[in-house]
Amino acid sequence: MIRPAGIGDAAAIARVHVASWRSTYGAVLPGDFLDSLTQDAYTDRWRRFIAERSNLAYVVEEGQDPSANVVGFASGGRERAGETGYKGELYAIYLLESAQRRGYGRELVRAIVGGLRGMGIDDMIIWVMRDNGPARDFYERLGGAYVRTQPTTIGPATVEEVSYGWPSLADVRY
Ligand SMILES: CC(C)(COP(=O)(O)OP(=O)(O)OC[C@H]1O[C@@H](n2cnc3c(N)ncnc32)[C@H](O)[C@@H]1OP(=O)(O)O)[C@@H](O)C(=O)NCCC(=O)NCCS
Repeated sequence: MIRPAGIGDAAAIARVHVASWRSTYGAVLPGDFLDSLTQDAYTDRWRRFIAERSNLAYVVEEGQDPSANVVGFASGGRERAGETGYKGELYAIYLLESAQRRGYGRELVRAIVGGLRGMGIDDMIIWVMRDNGPARDFYERLGGAYVRTQPTTIGPATVEEVSYGWPSLADVRY
């Protein structure tokens, strides 16, 4: 059900990405910005991301081949911003609304953790919008420790984002 993503998954990941951003951030980001996101633009971005061998990407699928449907994904890799103490990062994790709260998120994190370990990395940080309460509950449930808060720009909006860290991947509580 959970497997590494290939280039051929880019369009499906982009579809989930756009749908999940719209259902998650309706109250946080401007509606016309969310309306302007397109599957095509994200397909290109995801194709480039997956093609980079040092990046990690996993999808969760429902149903049987050949009609299996991607309903969620997670991405990760080396920490991107030079945060002291962290070499690994969970970049993104998004499920369709209909696929949430069924344990897929937890299993996607397990996959990213396995991928980071395979890269010789033993810690992980994530960034999440301060006002995304359900996602913060999820990271706290997995044992993430609050690191810090900073402003960030997303499209036309400036929002606060907070980070959670696991200084050792052995601290992730599934
Ligand atoms: C956040 C997200 C990835 C979590 O994945 P999920 O599959 O829904 O979560 P799981 O079923 O694996 O939940 C694991 C535990 O996390 C906690 N949790 C998950 N979602 C929660 C929520 N909405 N509210 C409170 N706690 C939550 C619970 O303790 C849950 O365990 P339980 O169901 O046994 O009580 C998923 O809900 C999602 O894609 N949300 C929308 C997009 C988003 O916000 N992504 C993160 C951006 S940084």
